[in-house]
Amino acid sequence: MNFLWLCLSFTITLTSGNRFDPHVFPKRGPFFEGWYIRLIDSDNGNSIGLLFGQVLPDVSKTVNKYPPVLCSILVRSCSVTGCRLISHDASFNSSDLKVRVKGKPIDKNPDIASPVNFTWLAKNSASFVFFQTNVSSSSFRVKFDNVSLDGELSSPVPWGPDGEGPGGWVDEFPLPLHWFVYSLRSSIVSYKFKKHKEIIFEGRRGFAHMEKNWGKSFPKAWIWSEGISPNNVTYAVSGGPVQFGPLPITAYLLGYRNPLKNISTNFHPYDSYISAKYDGCRGFINITAKGLLHSVELFVTAEMSSFSRCLYGPETQGFRQVCKESYDASATISVYKFKALIDKQFLSNVALEFGGENVCGGCMSHKP
Ligand SMILES: *[C@@H]1O[C@H](CO)[C@@H](O)[C@H](O)[C@H]1NC(C)=O
Ligand SMILES: *[C@@H]1O[C@H](CO)[C@@H](O)[C@H](O)[C@H]1NC(C)=O
Ligand SMILES: *[C@@H]1O[C@H](CO)[C@@H](O)[C@H](O)[C@H]1NC(C)=O
Ligand SMILES: *[C@@H]1O[C@H](CO)[C@@H](O)[C@H](O)[C@H]1NC(C)=O
Ligand SMILES: *[C@@H]1O[C@H](CO)[C@@H](O)[C@H](O)[C@H]1NC(C)=O
Ligand SMILES: *[C@@H]1O[C@H](CO)[C@@H](O)[C@H](O)[C@H]1NC(C)=O
Ligand SMILES: *[C@@H]1O[C@H](CO)[C@@H](O)[C@H](O)[C@H]1NC(C)=O
Repeated sequence: MNFLWLCLSFTITLTSGNRFDPHVFPKRGPFFEGWYIRLIDSDNGNSIGLLFGQVLPDVSKTVNKYPPVLCSILVRSCSVTGCRLISHDASFNSSDLKVRVKGKPIDKNPDIASPVNFTWLAKNSASFVFFQTNVSSSSFRVKFDNVSLDGELSSPVPWGPDGEGPGGWVDEFPLPLHWFVYSLRSSIVSYKFKKHKEIIFEGRRGFAHMEKNWGKSFPKAWIWSEGISPNNVTYAVSGGPVQFGPLPITAYLLGYRNPLKNISTNFHPYDSYISAKYDGCRGFINITAKGLLHSVELFVTAEMSSFSRCLYGPETQGFRQVCKESYDASATISVYKFKALIDKQFLSNVALEFGGENVCGGCMSHKP
């Protein structure tokens, strides 16, 4: 499999650029595009997520009874016994959605060279979602029935140079699913979460992870985790079975950064050996990634009680409940250069997600 990937690499002209901007939807589904932003307040470790996206369903499959447009606000609800992730959701019809690139309807896929510049607006009688981003700043204003979230982010820190994402050159392929991390740690300018008009969380310090997915559908099983430490260490990992042309393969993508130690390392199936052990019912993932120069051991774990109920994700028929996530995981990361340990970090307040068949007990959409 790795051999095939290497062979293919010689036939590809390597282009790179920013894929955070929206893509053109095909005439026929299934196709989806969704964004995910997670804020961590460095004053108190609190964390809030914002997800929004659209599915063009596969109409041949079933009657379309799942929402094609959805937005979720994820917040931790804490008590003396611990914290749990709670989702507030709003759904929309496709006609309620207006996505614009540089103020205009989307007529071409992200131009790799251009800086990001788009707006995403969904509005119906009950709910409102507005997100906008450009090269230096992003802001959001979200209002549902009982809750609202407002915020502004600045100074994105890209995954890599020239719009490189976790997939490296693999993103040049028309894969069934793409994952792109736009910013490993944008600075929080401000944010405010209200419930019944009362301020529950607000802050002006911290960082935000910003990413997106697009393609046909989420896979049948996956794991995902991401973390940011107060000393600017960041990592993100994602993987599961994907269909690569005719080949079903299990692929993981992982990136680790420690600017204070000048470490920046990425692992892809075409240049690394990555193995993963995980258990959605015990709430851990254990990943070993070996590249040419560096290897990374990543162990992430969270109390089962901190995981959300099944959250919405894009499937071929629309948004369905597909995954469980915790914002109260912790990560232990060891980095080796050749055989020597060069960095060891412990991160708290990290995000850990099990999706599809990896969800403990399963979610509705993945039950036969
Ligand atoms: C979508 O449109 C249909 C028909 O106009 C309407 O009945 C339904 O409530 C709408 N759904 C949402 C989430 O706005
Ligand atoms: C970004 O888009 C806005 C319209 O929404 C436009 O006025 C502005 O010139 C664009 N900025 C860049 C740098 O292209
Ligand atoms: C980016 O958007 C912000 C907020 O709308 C605006 O103040 C700023 O001028 C924009 N920057 C650029 C480079 O377009
Ligand atoms: C909003 O809050 C009211 C009162 O707590 C509750 O009855 C209602 O179900 C809530 N609506 C949503 C969409 O959560
Ligand atoms: C982390 O990065 C931010 C800006 O990205 C910088 O202001 C801050 O000093 C850095 N912190 C450390 C501990 O290096
Ligand atoms: C950081 O590492 C890169 C290569 O990984 C190297 O080119 C650069 O000189 C290093 N910078 C410092 C300050 O050590
Ligand atoms: C995680 O993987 C490492 C390396 O393979 C191994 O040493 C360790 O025991 C594993 N831990 C758990 C809890 O599975």
